[in-house]
Amino acid sequence: TNQLAIAIDGPAAAGKSTVAKHVAQRLSYIYIDTGAMYRALTYKAIINKVDLENENQVSNLLENTSIDLEQTNKGQLVYLDNNEITREIRTKEVTNNVSIVAKHPLIRREMVKRQQLLAEKRAVVMDGRDIGTHVIPDAEVKIFLIASVEERAQRRHKENLEKGFESDLDQLKREIETRDKLDSEREAAPLVKAKDAVEIDTTSLSIEDVVERILQVVATK
Ligand code: C5P
Repeated sequence: TNQLAIAIDGPAAAGKSTVAKHVAQRLSYIYIDTGAMYRALTYKAIINKVDLENENQVSNLLENTSIDLEQTNKGQLVYLDNNEITREIRTKEVTNNVSIVAKHPLIRREMVKRQQLLAEKRAVVMDGRDIGTHVIPDAEVKIFLIASVEERAQRRHKENLEKGFESDLDQLKREIETRDKLDSEREAAPLVKAKDAVEIDTTSLSIEDVVERILQVVATK
């Protein structure tokens, strides 16, 4: 079969990464989590006490930063300047600040450049907010995943409890809404459904259902 690029976009906690990983596995494609790249930079900026609102400072930081994603059978590992930071980028502090870093045009320009290099050879499933619109505008398959805020917060809540993390459902809901608002209303490459994307509402679907639907779309290409 052809080697395709599959772009999966959508709001926070809509299940993009879980679904993308499964689709990549089924097709033996590589999976690229672009959110992890913005998270890694945010983590580094926080540690270095860089003012996240200062576009030039964050941009200078990014110029001297390497971010690598490694696929292993234990899942994706994220490296920042060759140090593994897979867990560190999932903290509340990073999650609640990443949209500030991601709104800067200079940051997005550099991230998109790096992501395009990773997607060059096709046979990729890439997830994010602007993959179908900016990173791979000519992707053969574009999926836009949505789910109600209630459902997304519930899923995250369940996940947190299973991992033994503290979790407050109402707070999660507010945080997801805030992040969606920032990501959708920013000027540079806001979260928006590409004209040629297939929208899938996952609210009442299982992971396996969503994966099957995406594979059905892939099969038509
Ligand atoms: O997908 P994830 O929730 O890990 O993304 C974290 C944040 O990174 C998003 O809320 C968004 O601000 C930013 N992001 C982005 N463009 C992408 C991927 C992520 O702006 N392609």
